[in-house]
This record gives sequence, structure tokens and C-alpha cells, in this order.
Amino acid sequence: MSSVKISFEHVRKEFVTRGQGSGPADRFPALEDITLDVHTGEFLALVGPSGCGKSTLLDLLGGLTAPTSGRILLDGRRITGPARDRGIVFQQYALFPWRTALENVEFGLDIAGLKAAQRREIARHFLDLVGLSDFARHYPHELSGGMKQRVAIARSLAYDPEVLLMDEPFAALDAQTRETLQTELLGIWRATGKTIVFITHGIDEAVVLGQRVAVMTSLPGRIKEVVDIPVSLRGESDDVRSLPEFGHVRHEVWNLLREEVQKAQQGQSGASASAHRAGRILKELAHV
Ligand SMILES: Nc1ncnc2c1ncn2[C@@H]1O[C@H](COP(=O)(O)OP(=O)(O)OP(=O)(O)O)[C@@H](O)[C@H]1O
Ligand SMILES: [Mg+2]
Repeated sequence: MSSVKISFEHVRKEFVTRGQGSGPADRFPALEDITLDVHTGEFLALVGPSGCGKSTLLDLLGGLTAPTSGRILLDGRRITGPARDRGIVFQQYALFPWRTALENVEFGLDIAGLKAAQRREIARHFLDLVGLSDFARHYPHELSGGMKQRVAIARSLAYDPEVLLMDEPFAALDAQTRETLQTELLGIWRATGKTIVFITHGIDEAVVLGQRVAVMTSLPGRIKEVVDIPVSLRGESDDVRSLPEFGHVRHEVWNLLREEVQKAQQGQSGASASAHRAGRILKELAHV
């Protein structure tokens, strides 16, 4: 029996932007009527066109901002701010440049009141888990993009949060590193049973990782549809991408997104929105 871990109830998020000159400030909705449950131990992937409100949604889950209306519950309690029950991996590498890889992973553990030796032991364990034991003493500028993202993942795991919130963590990586990290993440998820909300704008990535894939609309972001990924794609087989079901689901998600990407394009560049540009973005979506 799966229980509900996270519950979005009619969540709306509005931003206020400065108006023209001395004109009044504009308000615009970034998220509209988001209602969605995430189950305990579920891996939920969330896809949507660029600028549709994905990071905004994750910030809300992280408690970094509050909804304008509606509410978000975690274990039945309203989220009121950041807490250690949720680990976040941000869209941009968020490592402290003056701390080594090991010290970056240790960050946060001191707040938990652990002694130095315990902190070190935990940090070493998680660096090991992401395959970076040999790089413990390296500083971020001495690490590749993939390694930095591994450190960020190790850090988010180190204080053992129940929920992992990940905002396009692999988007900046080359295809091979991305696939390696996807496999590692699935391994960690299987081993730990954590609830994961994973944002991406890559269709393949969403279908490879998610048990369900929530597709968002263009701005203001709403949940357009939630697609169940067949269990046959959730085995431990390395090559799910070559299975026929993979192609089918991928196509389904692609179709849902296509309309939204085109809408987003029109919104950004008016009536002259070029179909060519929309086509390019769709190609990008297909390959990330
Ligand atoms: N703090 C803010 N103040 C005003 N507007 C904001 C703020 N944060 C985000 N926005 C706007 O809200 C909308 C959604 O932004 P968000 O970063 O959530 O999109 P996204 O789906 O994560 O995009 P991307 O795929 O490019 O990362 C955008 O129009 C953005 O300009
Ligand atoms: Mg974003």
C-alpha cells in the first residue's frame, strides 16, 4: 500500500514584477491550480517547457518560498520552510568553492550536532557512494561538471532526508556522464527507498527515471497530465531505451509536450513565433 508523502492542493504562485517606469507593479501567475500527490518512496519526474514554473514548484516544495494560495503538505503537515527532511539538488551547481569535496558533503552535518569524526565518516561514505572517494580533497574548481553534481548529490543524501528534490541536476552534463548518473541515481533510489521529485526538460530522462511522469503546461504552469510508466521499463535492465514500450511512452510524453512548447514559443515571441525555433526546442527536448 502506498501512502501519500507530498500533497499539492490547488497551489498557485504569483510573482510581482516592476511595472513600466513609475507604473504599477504587475502580477503574473507562474503556477496555477497545481493539485498532485507524490507517494512515499515514489520517483516522480516532472517535465515541462522552459520557463513554465518547474523551479518555482521545487522552491515551494523546499520551503524556500510560499504559495500565494493553496497549500502543500508533507506527511499531512503544511510546509512552512526549509527543513532537513528534504534535500535539494539545485539547477546550478551549488558548492562552496572554498570547501573541498569532502567538506562540501559535511556541510549541514555540523548543524545536526554531529562530532567532527562522525561528520567525516558520513561524508566519506556518501562520497564513496557517488564514486568520488579519490577526490575528497579536491576543490570544486578541480572537479568536472559531472563530479560537482555528484558532490551535490552526496551532500543532499548525507543528512538522510526522506525526500530528495532535484532540479535538472544533469542538464549541463554530456550524454555519457548523464546516463551514468541516471543509473547511479536509480541505484541509490532503489537502495534507500527515498521519495524523489526530479525535474527535467528531457523526455528520455523523465521516462528512464520516473515511475510516473507529470507533464506541465506552458506558463502559467499547471499539471497537464500524469503518465504512468509501465513496470516493464522499471526493471534493472541497463538498456530500457531499446525496449518498444520506451518508444511508446516517450512518444506519448512528446505529444503532450509539443503543444506546450509551441504555446510557450508564441508567448515569448508573439504571433511571429517561428515554427523553426519550436522545432529546435523539441529536438533539444528529445535528446536531453
Ligand atoms: N523570483 C522571481 N520573481 C519574479 N519572477 C520569477 C521569479 N522566479 C521565477 N520567475 C518567473 O516565473 C516563471 C517560471 O520560472 P521558473 O524558473 O520556475 O521556470 P522553469 O520551468 O524552472 O524554467 P527552466 O526550464 O528554464 O529552468 C518565469 O517566467 C520566471 O521569469
Ligand atoms: Mg528551472
